[in-house]
Amino acid sequence: MASLENVYMALMPKRFAKAAPREQKASQASLNTTQTVDPLPLQHVAVIMDGNRRWADKRGVPRLLGHKEGVKSLKRLVRHVGALGLKYLTVYAFSSENWQRSKEEVNYLLELFATVLTDEVGELCENNVKLSFIGKLDQMPPKLRSKIERGMEKTKNNTGLALQVAINYGSRLEITEAVRRISKEVAAGALTPEQISEELISSYLYTSSLPDPEMMIRTGGEMRLSNYLLWQAAYTELYITEVLWPEFTPEEFDKSIEEFRARERRYGGD
Ligand code: FPP
Repeated sequence: MASLENVYMALMPKRFAKAAPREQKASQASLNTTQTVDPLPLQHVAVIMDGNRRWADKRGVPRLLGHKEGVKSLKRLVRHVGALGLKYLTVYAFSSENWQRSKEEVNYLLELFATVLTDEVGELCENNVKLSFIGKLDQMPPKLRSKIERGMEKTKNNTGLALQVAINYGSRLEITEAVRRISKEVAAGALTPEQISEELISSYLYTSSLPDPEMMIRTGGEMRLSNYLLWQAAYTELYITEVLWPEFTPEEFDKSIEEFRARERRYGGD
């Protein structure tokens, strides 16, 4: 019987090839039409990449292969939105609830993140992408953490797309920890209760350096936020598509932008 390790190795992504010419052309076409004629109407998009395992089920292949395919989809999207000039992309890669999945799947995902970090930081640099992570990183395995830190360090001076990967992320925990730290400041006399404002709370979140996302895309059709960016998404437009994450193409992203353009954002006003 194949050992678990061999199964992981077989499913691990090889170094990804550069964008196929057709894909580059698609990005270029979007660049020409969207940037010169019609600039992007937003700067921050958050994504819930859902449906990897259903994608695998649909094809009758091992479910974990869906996650590997999901990485390809993410790479395509990063290239595409980078070419479009998007400033911030925040993706949900592993929620604090995902630890409840089987040990096999959790280990596979953690290995996959480590492999992607090893293989892809070079290309992120070539594409001027700045990589960061949000979530409770201190609970991640030390080897993965050092790869995360190295990835952030190597890309920190890049000035193009800022890519945030939410890993071991849970919004309620993020807010709880912010409240705890603010309370300590109040108890120490460094802050008064009156100084606690929405801006102050935002500044205690993992996303303190980012504007709120204007749009959140969820693939796979589920109609919920799943503990993702609950504070930050107060006025975010939700775009939910039945398309499964591995099938989410640059063209699907462009559709979400067109839908966003058509929406009227009222922020609770008339
Ligand atoms: C949800 O699909 C997806 C995940 C829990 C993992 C997402 C991770 C990736 C796409 C890989 C990204 C890699 C990096 C390095 C950021 P699901 O498993 O819940 O699918 P289902 O809804 O079909 O069960």
